[in-house]
Formats: sequence, C-alpha cells, structure tokens
Amino acid sequence: LHDIAAQVSACTHASQYAVVTDSQVEPLHGEQVRSALAESGSTTLISFPAGEWNKSRECWSTLTDQLLHHGCDRDTVLVALGGGVTGDLVGFVAATILRGVDYLFAPTTLTAMVERVVSDETGVDTAFGRDLVGAHHPPCAVVADVHTLISLPPVHIAAGVAGALKHGAVADAEYFGRVLEWRDAVRAKDPAVLAKLVRRSVEIKSAILAGQIPRHPTPAALGFGRTVALGLQALLGYELLHGEALAIGMIVEATIGERIGVTNPGVANAMTDAAAAFRLPSELPQGLDIDRLLEAMQGRGARRDKAVRFALLSRIGSVAPASEEDGMFRVPESELRDLLAAVS
Ligand SMILES: NC(=O)c1ccc[n+]([C@@H]2O[C@H](COP(=O)([O-])OP(=O)(O)OC[C@H]3O[C@@H](n4cnc5c(N)ncnc54)[C@H](O)[C@@H]3O)[C@@H](O)[C@H]2O)c1
Repeated sequence: LHDIAAQVSACTHASQYAVVTDSQVEPLHGEQVRSALAESGSTTLISFPAGEWNKSRECWSTLTDQLLHHGCDRDTVLVALGGGVTGDLVGFVAATILRGVDYLFAPTTLTAMVERVVSDETGVDTAFGRDLVGAHHPPCAVVADVHTLISLPPVHIAAGVAGALKHGAVADAEYFGRVLEWRDAVRAKDPAVLAKLVRRSVEIKSAILAGQIPRHPTPAALGFGRTVALGLQALLGYELLHGEALAIGMIVEATIGERIGVTNPGVANAMTDAAAAFRLPSELPQGLDIDRLLEAMQGRGARRDKAVRFALLSRIGSVAPASEEDGMFRVPESELRDLLAAVS
C-alpha cells in the first residue's frame, strides 16, 4: 500500500482522489492511504458502516452524495479500500457517478484478493437477492497487499480459502493440493504463502476468463458451487459469509454431480475434507426447507425450462464438459428436490 500513489498515477491522470473505505478498515489503513495519495493531489477520506447489509442502494446513495459534496468531478479517481463489499459498492459508485469515473481497488480481505480482483462486476444487494443491481466497471488497477491480512479474523481467512479451493477444483488439481499443504501457514497468515495463494488464484481466474485454459471453453467453470451458494445466501440473509456458502455449495454440487454420473466418485469427499481442514462449514444448515432453497436458487436465473443449471466437476482439477453452449448442466427440478433432500 505504501506504493499506492505510483500505482494510481501509472493507470490514470487524476487531479484529485477520494479514498472510500468501511468503518473497520478506516482506522487500520485509511489515513496511510490518504496521506500517501495526498502527495499527488487533494485527497478525501470517506467511510461507510462495515457489513454486507450496507452493500445497499441506501449506502450507494449516501456515498454518492458525500462525494458530490466534496467536489468529486470527472478527474477524480476513487480508491476502494477494503473487502469485497467495498469493491462491489464503491465500484458501483464509480460506475454511476457523473456517468462513470475511474477507480482503483485495494482489497484487504482474502476473499476480495482471491475472487474479486479479477472482476468487472460491481453492484449492490436488494430485498430480492444479492447483487441484483449493478454494472460492469473494471478497476483501472488493483493493489493487493497481503500484509493487510494480518488483522483479518480467522473466519474470514477461511472464507477466502474457499475461493482458492474452487480455483484448484475447476482448473488445477496440483494447486488444490498445495492449498491444503499450506493450511498451517495460511492459518498463521504467513505473508509469503498468502502471496503465492493470491497470485495463483488470480492467474487461474484470469486465464479462465480469457479462455486460455484447455477444456474450459466458458467462464461457466467459475460458477462451480455458486448456484447452491447464492441460493443459501438469499435464503439465510447474512448468516453465512460468501466463502462459507461457497464451501457448502461446492460440496453439495459435487454430490449432485456424483449422483447424476457426471462427477467421479470421491470428489465430494475430497471437497468435504478440504473444507474441514480450514474449518469451513460442509453441510446444509439443519432444518433447511428444500423447497425454499430450490426457489432461492431459481430466483438467481439459474433456472431454465423447469431445470436448475450447475457448473459441475468431472474430477478435482477439471470441470465436466456440458453439451449445452453455456457450459452448464441442467438438473430437472423434481430430480434435484430428491437429491437435495438426500444430502440435507
Ligand atoms: N464482484 C465480484 O466478482 C465478487 C467476487 C467475490 C465476492 N464478491 C463480494 O464480496 C463480498 C464478500 O467479500 P468480503 O468477505 O471481503 O466482505 P467484506 O468487505 O464485508 O469484509 C468482511 C469483513 O472484514 C472486515 N475487514 C476488511 N479488511 C479487513 C482487515 N484487513 N482486517 C480486519 N478486518 C477487515 C470488513 O470490515 C468486514 O467487516 C460479498 O458481497 C460478495 O458478493 C464480489
């Protein structure tokens, strides 16, 4: 982060900066980033209350007004400093204020470093579900400093690892194994190991999106675990972190894949062991209403022709090729209800 001024000026010509962060990250890094940028131009520091529930239109509106009040113009560059919520929310502010200004993303959670840095998706949650209002607006640069992870609670480190496990599971079995080998170092927040983990995940996600990985024709591979995860999050509100829902989603979808003969036997067990190694949840919450989960999964547009779509693995390190153009498998609702009931 100490080099952030050089990074910003390399990617954009700004006359002023606005650092936007959440209330937990502000006391940790807000002033450091503000003063680093102040050498290059006038810099404002603004924060919003931390928490997923603030990834909202209300918070978007407040931040937008605050920025306009501080004289934000088309030469202002926003610096989104924080986790995935900050990246999505501030990215959406940047996409919309004055019809779009540049922003730089400085992620401070492992989830954001592993999953959100290679993304042009910005947006906010609504009462109808997560991320339903947004825009495609990539950051002009990303500055991921793994030293910021020192203060991150263990549960958020584990949630970030879920994203890394997904990248290994869909595209690189060796990396999947290495993440498990790194378990103690990751839990001890060893910066060198965390840097290796973030780098490899970013490489894999970029390569998949660029179509550079053989046998992965579409970015659909990155949707592994997501259909169930997004359904769970829609149903349970903010009870589960993004990475926790993803861990359960990957295990449930591996199980579905095995039961319909797409995924090799043993993959669901391997995913379960990996989740346990990082103390991630591995089961659907007890007493979950399967019909409501199905409904929540369908609400995300994962449903088509009375079937729900999934990206499924063939084995650890490879997604199964689907005959459909979008790379997704369709599981009929009736069959899926029975499958989900069996795993719950
Ligand atoms: N756009 C995308 O491609 C994409 C990809 C993955 C996730 N996401 C989104 O990201 C969000 C989840 O990300 P997240 O887990 O980073 O959420 P988050 O931003 O809410 O961060 C989690 C918590 O950690 C705190 N925190 C952040 N950095 C810290 C640090 N260094 N030390 C101590 N505490 C710190 C935050 O204040 C917050 O309370 C979800 O909204 C999800 O939809 C988006």
